[in-house]
Formats: sequence, structure tokens, C-alpha cells
Amino acid sequence: MNDAPIGVFDSGLGGLTVWSELYKKLPHESLLYFGDGKNCPYGDKTQAEVTAHVDEAVRRMLDAGVKMVVIACNAATAMAIDYLRRSYSIPFIGLEPAVKPAALSSHSGVIGVLATAATLRGRLFQETSRRYADRVEILSAVGRGFVELVEADREHTSEAVETVARVVQPMLDRGADRLVLGCTHYPFLQDALREVIGAREVELMNPAAAIERRVESLLEQHDLQASADHRPEYTFLTAADEAYRQRLMTKSEQARQMNFE
Ligand code: DGL
Repeated sequence: MNDAPIGVFDSGLGGLTVWSELYKKLPHESLLYFGDGKNCPYGDKTQAEVTAHVDEAVRRMLDAGVKMVVIACNAATAMAIDYLRRSYSIPFIGLEPAVKPAALSSHSGVIGVLATAATLRGRLFQETSRRYADRVEILSAVGRGFVELVEADREHTSEAVETVARVVQPMLDRGADRLVLGCTHYPFLQDALREVIGAREVELMNPAAAIERRVESLLEQHDLQASADHRPEYTFLTAADEAYRQRLMTKSEQARQMNFE
């Protein structure tokens, strides 16, 4: 038993799509969310830069007493998870695009993977793609402008639909029936994605539920679950300013109300 908080990290607001799943499914666990905000987006930064930003955030979370950390950011996982596991003794859970479930469930034999440049370049994605390449055709594309739309709270605008269409339409035209959301910001764009997809039978693959199950099993394995009578606390930290920290809290309310696909 351990009532300390679980840390959840992202470059900004995106990791709240994972945080909300933990919030809903683990009602006794305290959660400490760290949204960098100052250095977001990470997608086009170097490995050294991202590792330094993530390391600083992890140190602040450790100072606040976290018992494990979910790197709810595909880009940060791709660039920094090996370093984190080497450097600290607490368990880390990382995210990578859900290629496997998409490849195994696709009927058309074509899947689309949307992620940042850092994630698509990363070893994890490259290896997983190779593993499924003989089973399905994997189309990958950087969601140019997607993170910026979410960070600016402009997900529900015609600009969002146009930005999403520019990237997704070519994948749909080539027959993709699964779209892997390989960046935690992207589920916030699900309405725009749905509008572009229209009547086609296309499934959006969001990894949040699988990550929550992984957290649950690691808590059990390390005997780290909060006690049944623990009253959870929800804390928000950022490398940016107080205004951004307030935005994290507001966006967390929004994420809690949403049903992510
Ligand atoms: N949310 C992050 C991810 O899952 C990346 C956003 C960024 O580029 O900072 O990859």
C-alpha cells in the first residue's frame, strides 16, 4: 500500500487525455499532473533538449513524492524513457503509438499513424512498424499544427477541421480504416477527426485505456496501490506560469467530461 501520488507528465495539455482515464478508473489514487507548457511543443526538438526538460519535470515530481510516473507523451517517451529508467528507481510507464491493435483489427489492411516527428523517428515506432509491415500497410504522417490547435483551445473551429483534413484525407483516400492517435494531444481533436472521416467506418485508436490497465497492473506488481479509504488529491504543476497551471486545471475538467474514443 502506498498513498503517494502517481505522476503524469506531458509537454502540455495533451497528457490530460490519459490523466482523465486514470482519474475515472483509479478513484483512490492521488494524481500529480505536470504539463511543461513552457517548452511545448516537443515534436521538433532534439533528444538532448527534450531529455533535459523531462528530467527537470521528473525531479520536481519526485520532490513532490510521486511513487511512479506515466510519461503521457509519445514524443518524450521516444526520446527520454531509456534515460529515465536508467536514472531513477521508481517505475516509469511510457507511451508509443498503438500500431499493434490497429494492425490486428484492420479489415482494409491499411492503417494510418498520426504522431509528432520525434515519435515517428523514434526507435520504438520504427521497430513496431517493421514487426507489422508484412501484415498491413502503415501510412504515417506528422499531425502538423494539431498540438498548437489544442494548446490554443481551438479544437472546435473550422481551422481545426481544415488542419486535420489536410493530414488525414490522404490516408482515408488510400483506404485506412484505423487511425492511430500517436500523440496524447490528438484525442482532443476527435470531433474534427470525426467530421473529416464522415460516414466511413474508421476507428480512432487512443491508447489511454491500455495505459490505465498497465498502470493498474504495475501498482499491483510493486504493491503500490493506495488504500481503499484514501481520499485522493489532484495536483497540477507546470514549467510555465500560474496562468498556464490554471489552464491545466480547466482543461482537466473538460477532459473529465469527454468520452474519448
Ligand atoms: N503530447 C505529446 C505526445 O504525445 C507531444 C506534443 C508535443 O509535440 O509537444 O507526443
